[in-house]
Amino acid sequence: MAGAQSKDRYARKLLLLLLCGGYYSVVARAADDARSYKVLAVGSLKAEVVCSVTPAPSSGATVPLNHRHGPCSPAPSAKVPTILELLQHDQLRAKYIQRRWSGKKGTDDLQPLDLTLPTTLGTALDTLEYVITIGIGSPAVTQTMMIDTGSDVSWVRCNSTDGTTLFDPSKSTTYAPFSCSSAACTQLGNNGNNCSNSQCQYMVQYGDGSNTTGTYGSDTLALSASDTVKGFQFGCSHHEEGFNREKFDGLMGLGGDAQSLVSQTAATYGKSFSYCLPPTNRTSGFLTFGAPNVTSAFVTTPMLRWPRVPTFYGVLLQDISVGGTLLGIQPTVLSNGSVMDSGTILTRLPRRAYSALSSAFRSGMTRYPRAAPVGILDTCYDFTGLRNFSVPTVELVFDGGAVMDLDYDGIMISDCLAFAATSGVSIIGNVQQRTFEVLHDVGQGVFGFRSGACS
Ligand SMILES: *[C@@H]1O[C@H](CO)[C@@H](O)[C@H](O)[C@H]1NC(C)=O
Ligand SMILES: *[C@@H]1O[C@H](CO)[C@@H](O)[C@H](O)[C@H]1NC(C)=O
Ligand SMILES: *[C@@H]1O[C@H](CO)[C@@H](O)[C@H](O)[C@H]1NC(C)=O
Ligand SMILES: *[C@@H]1O[C@H](CO)[C@@H](O)[C@H](O)[C@H]1NC(C)=O
Ligand SMILES: *[C@@H]1O[C@H](CO)[C@@H](O)[C@H](O)[C@H]1NC(C)=O
Ligand SMILES: *[C@@H]1O[C@H](CO)[C@@H](O)[C@H](O)[C@H]1NC(C)=O
Ligand SMILES: *[C@@H]1O[C@H](CO)[C@@H](O)[C@H](O)[C@H]1NC(C)=O
Repeated sequence: MAGAQSKDRYARKLLLLLLCGGYYSVVARAADDARSYKVLAVGSLKAEVVCSVTPAPSSGATVPLNHRHGPCSPAPSAKVPTILELLQHDQLRAKYIQRRWSGKKGTDDLQPLDLTLPTTLGTALDTLEYVITIGIGSPAVTQTMMIDTGSDVSWVRCNSTDGTTLFDPSKSTTYAPFSCSSAACTQLGNNGNNCSNSQCQYMVQYGDGSNTTGTYGSDTLALSASDTVKGFQFGCSHHEEGFNREKFDGLMGLGGDAQSLVSQTAATYGKSFSYCLPPTNRTSGFLTFGAPNVTSAFVTTPMLRWPRVPTFYGVLLQDISVGGTLLGIQPTVLSNGSVMDSGTILTRLPRRAYSALSSAFRSGMTRYPRAAPVGILDTCYDFTGLRNFSVPTVELVFDGGAVMDLDYDGIMISDCLAFAATSGVSIIGNVQQRTFEVLHDVGQGVFGFRSGACS
């Protein structure tokens, strides 16, 4: 799946970067050891603050997808997290996903997790780096929403105090709150929050105790000018706790449970969606609903689901190759499956798999000096002064033989190997998913990966 398509992509990216004056440019794989190394050349031109847009695939309902921070953001915020802050948030996110996966749902588990993390740093949701811009209501109000495959209930701020564009349900002719006895309200289950003025109330509590409460209702959702979802069910948030007052207007739940947008639009889009997470904050990706009409560009693997946590989508990672050589991970090490999550940054692997990966990677990197660990990243290098450098290829091999040949941006973060060890369930993080179109065909129970879909 690398081959011509990926060379094409590198060429396109290089061209774009030359045009845009980018600082980093992935040149190509080194010609002599094309199967085992990826080369990164450090350009001499200064980074320009522009956003380059990737053309989206032609089928389905497509929305541009962007980093929350940086030139592609529809509402750039002043506060940009540092890598250490991001990694701390990422630990919270991973623990949250893992606790939910392990089936512990008691309220005790929803208490703040990591007391070493000052709440001013933000919340587990701060790892949600990708936003879409949609319209809600009639007339439509433009809203910037974070996307999250790790939760189901969508919500928008209906009571903002920070000057973001407010969705005011009283100004929409198509808004209707749900009654407390409605099916939609009953379906909220644990996210139900009793009744107020005969209107259904919802609550979502996230991993670190942050929460949103308000009225559960429905309105028209405009994904694009030509794709609208009538009667989209979402929470109109009157009150949020624990979120940074950042410039996003709400959250779009893309999990596998009944309340998510994916389930709500099953009749139209067949519970099929895909996204391409852009590798940098200067590039734009996409989110598409509906199965692609050309699937030959995808490699596929069965999708795993866990009845005790219907929100999550899983895959069976079988092995990893480094520099073209399989690590030969024992099947029992990964047999619980891995959660595919849009909101966890680093891929988390069982300790035995991580040790094998990091040790093979280090063997391929002996010509570079090691650098001090960065947070939980322990395989770091000092590339100071180098005009270009190369890292071993890393390929994730899934059940059925699907292979993700990771992009440079999917292998390294901050000059460190972008993986970490865990004692909980494995998670395939968003760093590794970047530049691939990741198809979640929930209806057919299939994951698909298409390389070089956004760059
Ligand atoms: C895919 O769908 C789009 C839009 O529905 C259509 O324009 C295009 O021709 C289709 N491509 C194929 C190969 O069927
Ligand atoms: C965009 O990404 C670059 C490179 O990763 C980073 O240095 C910069 O701070 C980012 N900008 C914002 C606003 O996040
Ligand atoms: C809902 O509110 C009613 C009336 O205030 C109260 O009696 C009932 O216990 C509440 N139920 C829950 C689940 O909080
Ligand atoms: C929301 O979070 C705040 C702060 O953590 C907490 O005091 C409050 O009880 C929470 N509300 C609900 C409904 O869980
Ligand atoms: C809006 O939020 C403020 C502060 O959180 C709260 O005091 C107020 O009651 C809210 N208004 C509505 C209409 O919910
Ligand atoms: C698989 O999950 C179960 C349940 O959480 C856990 O007890 C077990 O240790 C896990 N196995 C592996 C190999 O991670
Ligand atoms: C990388 O650097 C080496 C030595 O400095 C040089 O020979 C080689 O052409 C460079 N490769 C690329 C792709 O820039």
